[in-house]
Amino acid sequence: MTRPVIVAANWKMNGCLSLVDEMTASLAKVELSENTRVIICPSFPYLASFASKQIDCNLNANIALGSQNVSEHEKGAYTGEVSTEMLNEVGVKYVIVGHSERRSLYKETSSLVAHKVAKVLNAGMTPIFCIGESEQERETGQTNTVLASQIQPVIDEIGIENFSKIVVAYEPVWAIGTGKTASPELAQETHQFIRQFIADVDLEVAKKVSILYGGSVNAANCKELFAQQDIDGGLIGGASLKVDEFSHICSAV
Ligand code: G3P
Repeated sequence: MTRPVIVAANWKMNGCLSLVDEMTASLAKVELSENTRVIICPSFPYLASFASKQIDCNLNANIALGSQNVSEHEKGAYTGEVSTEMLNEVGVKYVIVGHSERRSLYKETSSLVAHKVAKVLNAGMTPIFCIGESEQERETGQTNTVLASQIQPVIDEIGIENFSKIVVAYEPVWAIGTGKTASPELAQETHQFIRQFIADVDLEVAKKVSILYGGSVNAANCKELFAQQDIDGGLIGGASLKVDEFSHICSAV
């Protein structure tokens, strides 16, 4: 089976209303191949304006709105939090869960991440479930152990039959924001491990699940990376804030 190529933008705590306008105007002109899916994940304040621009600019149906996080709670006295119900209401279809910055800066554990993945799925949205090792873990040969420890709680929480409904994003922490992109060979080797780890539980699910690479993806390296057998696209930070570069990536893959 052919998995789609997913180009997802993680704006992180960047951007502004004018970037929403410029990005949607540019994406309206991009020729996407049939098999390409684009997901834009701006910060919470910009979700509704992006959603209305999707309509105003008559964006391709394969361009969807995502958010960068979600609360594990339903609703109520959780100051500052945003619920799945609120995200659904403004047209969000994807939710980034367990980004390394959430794990390191906001102490999100693999157990909490697994709970959020289940919450997003149960709300009818698609989790973009992030995993990745630190430089020290890579250098000491712990990468596969770390990735397995991040994946297993999600399989335990949602069941392997639901794992094909999520998107996995492998983001080596040492490549995020550093310009030190993983080589296509190393990224492919790690994606192959991730897919095999899933296949050891259920081969059909492993064939279906999309596994994105993230960590200093740009217009120059995206094609070679995304051409790898087990890399199904990218989760892009810095380059997704540059209208021309991100539009080029979307049209080039
Ligand atoms: O979630 C994507 C992000 O972590 C990658 O950032 O700037 O290395 O593309 P960047």
